[in-house]
Amino acid sequence: MASSMLNGAEGLKLTGMRSPHGLGSMNSTLHGKPLSKMGLTPFNLRKDAKFVAPKCSLSSSRPASQPRFIQHKKEAFWFYRFLSIVYDHVINPGHWTEDMRDEALKPADLYSPRLKVVDVGGGTGFTTLGIVKHVDPKNVTIIDQSPHQLAKARQKEPLKECTIMEGDAEDLPFPTDSFDRYISAGSIEYWPEPQRGIREAYRVLRQGGVACVIGPVYPTFWLSRFFADMWMLFPKEEEYIEWFKNAGFKDVQLKRIGPKWYRGVRRHGLIMGCSVTGVKRQPGDSPLQLGPKAEDVERPVNPFSFLLRFVLGSIAATYFVLVPIYMWIKDQITPKGMPI
Ligand SMILES: C[S@@+](CC[C@H](N)C(=O)[O-])C[C@H]1O[C@@H](n2cnc3c(N)ncnc32)[C@H](O)[C@@H]1O
Repeated sequence: MASSMLNGAEGLKLTGMRSPHGLGSMNSTLHGKPLSKMGLTPFNLRKDAKFVAPKCSLSSSRPASQPRFIQHKKEAFWFYRFLSIVYDHVINPGHWTEDMRDEALKPADLYSPRLKVVDVGGGTGFTTLGIVKHVDPKNVTIIDQSPHQLAKARQKEPLKECTIMEGDAEDLPFPTDSFDRYISAGSIEYWPEPQRGIREAYRVLRQGGVACVIGPVYPTFWLSRFFADMWMLFPKEEEYIEWFKNAGFKDVQLKRIGPKWYRGVRRHGLIMGCSVTGVKRQPGDSPLQLGPKAEDVERPVNPFSFLLRFVLGSIAATYFVLVPIYMWIKDQITPKGMPI
């Protein structure tokens, strides 16, 4: 099944840029703002393509104070302690396919073997495999807080010459102005302070360097929203743009991505929903000043509340393993060219 999911809705015909239901289109927001005005570009659109209306095309606003049980470093560490065992075989095929990865990396402009690249929250190296298609692996560094995820990356032959190290996305162990490209895929949703992580992206890049952050978007369907809020952070598209701009990036762009078999549906908050890029304006640190880190990982935790958070967060995550399967079945049974 995984391989047919990877191929997904191969025959999908996009048929126009207008939503017959008036619920937004692939190049407008729910608030009616054109994506181009927000620095956004639609995904998977060919010039001759027409658009099959998704029921909802963009994230909606959400309360700031949701539990997000796994959006903390300790919980994320233990979450990936177990998930790393099956990650490449069970998680990626449903959420983050090779064709999505290659589309998402295009705006990062990786087309030179000499570029110095860091992949933050690189995990098992799935995204790094897309990077080393263009860049000399000797110039690529993978950093992640999970030794268990990194152990899987170390086993991959094409990544043998990469530098692989443990570290925190919100506090990168690199000097200022070190890299030509900063890539981070599917990690921001676990960072307690995404703005701090994006500020770090700015700091470690050289002037003119490009940061590319790939991550989920907030769902609009009520049940998906409920589980998203229990699990981790699903940012709104506007938030990504704001974090990049606050950190000092120029030319901030957002490209929507999603599995083919979703046929453009975004109401469930795609696990990998967008790829956001920005260019470092000038050398040195980010103009954004932040206080000390919000989360102290050394602070002792109550084991009971930790376990409860962990279990509830993991249950919520399971919902998002089931959604792509549900969407895949819908794609199989709905006639080609029809909205699902
Ligand atoms: C969904 S996986 C993505 C892995 C990989 N980038 C990919 O494309 O498959 C998220 C990764 O982010 C890592 N992570 C979460 N919080 C982090 C943090 N604060 N610093 C560094 N890595 C983090 C996790 O350990 C995990 O490996």
